[in-house]
This record gives sequence, structure tokens and C-alpha cells, in this order.
Amino acid sequence: MKDQLEALRLQIAKDIGSAETLEVLDELEIKYLGRKGELTAILKGLATVSAEDRPVLGALANEVKQAGMDLLERRRNELSSSKFAALADTERADMTEPGKRPVEGHLHLVTQTIREITDIFEKIGFYRTRYPEIDWDWYAFESLNMPPDHPARDDWETFFMDAVSSDAKKQGRMVLTPHTSNGQAHELERHEFPVRMLGIGKCYRRQSDATHAPMFHQFEGLYVDEGVNLSHLRGILDYFAEQFFGKGRVSRIRPHHFRFTEPSFEVDISCGICGATGVVNGQKCKICKQGWLEIGGAGMVHPNVLMASGVDPKKYSGLAFGWGIERVAMMKEGTQLDDIRILYQNDVRFLKQF
Ligand code: PHE
Repeated sequence: MKDQLEALRLQIAKDIGSAETLEVLDELEIKYLGRKGELTAILKGLATVSAEDRPVLGALANEVKQAGMDLLERRRNELSSSKFAALADTERADMTEPGKRPVEGHLHLVTQTIREITDIFEKIGFYRTRYPEIDWDWYAFESLNMPPDHPARDDWETFFMDAVSSDAKKQGRMVLTPHTSNGQAHELERHEFPVRMLGIGKCYRRQSDATHAPMFHQFEGLYVDEGVNLSHLRGILDYFAEQFFGKGRVSRIRPHHFRFTEPSFEVDISCGICGATGVVNGQKCKICKQGWLEIGGAGMVHPNVLMASGVDPKKYSGLAFGWGIERVAMMKEGTQLDDIRILYQNDVRFLKQF
């Protein structure tokens, strides 16, 4: 057995010395020193040797094992340092090479548009407000001249939830706001004049199709002071048209109906492609078809709305306007989206275009 161990020691040393790769060393370790390796096989014979030889042979076996491990480690070090030495010849790092740019995100188109609209209105004295997106019936409907059960609510009713409050205005149910007009009463009840609010927030409606998302953003302008009249509204709309859409763009208003404004209007912006003529090279304009693009609603604040918040309509008058952020963003880009809901699908290939 002693001879067997000595022979194994020599064999191990020889094989390790001639191994040329780290993989071969791994194999040798298993073959000779592993749990099912040759050393273990020899040691099985220990049971048959005499009791006095046993410790001597055991110690020798340990020695062979330790020697083998030492050789393995030394050879591994040799091989891996020569591997790196070889790499240094073939793979040089050029420290002067420009770095790789990390992928950088940017703001979502809707956020960009919100910021741009905010800047435009701040220049003429409006300030940004933010009122609840889940609000009491009073703010979403009643204060806006839409009493309970009024049919005008039908288009706007979304999700209601039961809630409790001790405040007289905060009775009944809360609702996912279908428009940002709920901010009007919140702002008016502060009784600080002039009111020049720009409220921007999320809205919810019972609709989901190619041109409507069930959640979208609106902005709400409200200007209330002594002597505010329709010409102020016309001026603000034209100012916005030119600032947001570009030089030469103008607005127009058409009669409409909202419960909370009187008179009420729909607001259009002149088409930038055909210059409000509806015709391009003798053909009907493909973008607007008739010269104008509809963007939203506006009007002079209804006296009932002022009174609902304790504002005297004989002293104060106001104008209000509001429309969708997504809508004006797409109009500005001149992009006809097949489906507006793509704005919220978070597909980077789409979003990075803006
Ligand atoms: N709240 C109306 C809507 O969502 C828009 C509007 C705002 C109309 C302000 C008049 C005044 O359609």
C-alpha cells in the first residue's frame, strides 16, 4: 500500500506538471483526489492492514493528498497568470476611446405638454392649482349648476363611492372626476380675487375607444374678477393658439351648451396645414377637412356657479375654459394616432419619438 501511495504521488506530480489548461487541472483533481478518485480507492485497503501500520499509512495518504493540492494550486496560478498575460497582448484597453452613452429616458409627452401649457399661462398671470381627482358630488356637479338627477349629468357620471363628512358641501357620494371643472368651486370658495387659476389634473370617463382613453388629462382655466368679459376670453384663446401651436394660428368660438357657463362655446383652432381654408392644392385638407380643429369648451362663468361659492355675481364675473392635454399634444405633433390609448401603453418605441 505504501508503494501504491508513492506511485500515486509521482503520477499526480507528473500529470499536473504537464497539464496545459485549467480545465485539465479540474479533471485531474477529480480523478486523483476526488471523493471517488484513486486516492480514496487505495484508502479502502486500510481496513485490511495491521493496526500498527494503519496510522503510518493514514499519515502518508494525507501527505500525498496535501502535496497534490499544493501542486494543483501552484499550477493553477501559473496557468491563469499566463492566460492574462496572453490577453494583455490581444485585448488592450484604449483609455482614450469615448465612453458608451447610457440609455437616457425623457419626460412623457403628456408631462412635456403640461409643462409647456403651464409656462404659457404663467406668463399672463395664471397660477397652477391642483384639486382632487376623487371629489365630492358638490364640486364635480352641484356647484357647477348640475343639481342631483339633472340629465346633464348623464354624460359625465363615472364611478361613485360612498363617503362621510361633517362638512355641508361634502355630503352624499364622492366621484372620480369626469373633468377638471370641479376645481372651479374649490378655487372660488377661497374668495381671493382676482382668480386666475390653471388647474391641471387627471379625469375619468366612461369611454374607451380609439379616440378616447378612460383616464386622460385636462386643464381648466378660470379667470374671475370685476369686469371680466368675453373679449378677455377671446384674447386668452388667441394668445394660447399662437403660443402653443405657433405664429399665425388663431382661435374661434362657436355656440354650445354647458350648465356651468353662459354663454357657452366650443373652441376651434385654425388648421396649420391649410391656414383655415380647408383646401390644400385644390383638394380638401386631410387634417381638418374644413379649416378648423376642435379643441375644447369655454364660456362665461354662470352666475349660479359664482353664487354656489358665495361670490356675488353683481360684483364679479368670470370666464372658464378647459380641454384635453392629450388632444392638444397630438394636434400639435400633427400625428394622427390610430389609437390614443397607445399613450398609456408605455411602449418605449412609441414614446421616444416625442
Ligand atoms: N368641463 C368641460 C368638459 O370637460 C369643458 C369646459 C371647461 C367647458 C370650462 C366650459 C368651461 O368638456
